[in-house]
Amino acid sequence: MIPVAIRGMEFAVPKQAFTNDDMAKIVDTSDEWITQRTGIKTRYIASADENSVTLAIEAVKKLFDSTKINPDTIDLIISATSAPERPYPSVACEIQYAFHLEHAGAVDIVAACSGFIYGLQLARASIGAGIYKRVLVIAADTTNKFVNWEDRSSCVLFGDGASATIVEVSPDGKDDIKTINLYADGRYKEIISLNVSSTLCPLHEKPKEEPSKVIFMNGKEVYKYVMKRIPAIIEDTLQSADMTMENIDFFIPHQANLRMIEALAERMNLSSDKVLTNIAKYGNMSATSIPCVISEFMKNGTIKDNSTLLLSAFGAGMTAACAIVKVRK
Ligand code: ACO
Repeated sequence: MIPVAIRGMEFAVPKQAFTNDDMAKIVDTSDEWITQRTGIKTRYIASADENSVTLAIEAVKKLFDSTKINPDTIDLIISATSAPERPYPSVACEIQYAFHLEHAGAVDIVAACSGFIYGLQLARASIGAGIYKRVLVIAADTTNKFVNWEDRSSCVLFGDGASATIVEVSPDGKDDIKTINLYADGRYKEIISLNVSSTLCPLHEKPKEEPSKVIFMNGKEVYKYVMKRIPAIIEDTLQSADMTMENIDFFIPHQANLRMIEALAERMNLSSDKVLTNIAKYGNMSATSIPCVISEFMKNGTIKDNSTLLLSAFGAGMTAACAIVKVRK
């Protein structure tokens, strides 16, 4: 397979930071409860005129500015977006239009919080097969527009945001992707869900109740799924790469809940200096959470060009994904 480079990770968040104390003014909760149970202190929440598209535009603009890539050389745009304002046109198409990417195909993928790693794998596969040379991988979600604000155990968790990165033919022949494994298990499909069903069709009998249009999450079941499945998935991925935790510089898990991340690290005997998190500042940013951590820790010098990163995500579906990668500036 043709080796690929991952380059220039950037992200954008809404203007408005929202603290736990702010949350306690509109929901029956407290800073103490949210901090203890989740590790979250603040999150950024999109205003009425911010959405997945505006945030993705901001992240892509930063990416083009920092990498100096000629936008005309993008062959394909993949956006991992699971809670868009409009199922179509896709966020990817909006980006194609906003940046005049004349030669690019554009598609959104739905893998919830695993979406970024799914996007990396699809980009890698199309470049590896020699079909494309340069793919723009975006993650963009404004989950707060869809959470159930009457369910205090889920509405305190999420932050909005978008990220953008380039996956391209490696200029030096070194492959930044050691391995990526994708997983799905529909047996758990009801533990996190979002309906977009409608009752408009005149051929159908009107239901007694309008279908729910907000995110449903059974937090306890998600927690159990993660603790049962993710350690085995990580073990699988290390084995498939013929590596052990000793070969990993940093573990970057999906930022869903700090307690869960700490429990995973303990299960894997990982020292805390190897585990990178920023959930305290951003909450759970869905597919953007892992690229947001990578970007922040690259900018502060913790992650270097030759750092080996173990990425581990899970999301509604349930989907899961695990990757061993390097990332360049
Ligand atoms: N503030 C104050 N009290 C609360 C809140 C809140 N925000 N939410 C729930 N409570 C109360 C409950 O009412 C309950 O009170 P009771 O004992 O008097 O009945 C008590 O706290 C415990 O509630 P639980 O729902 O059992 O809380 P739990 O300890 O399970 O924590 C949480 C909830 C934080 C959601 C946890 O289950 C969790 O993090 N699960 C994983 C969720 C997750 O990862 N989601 C991923 C989202 S989607 C994705 O990223 C793929």
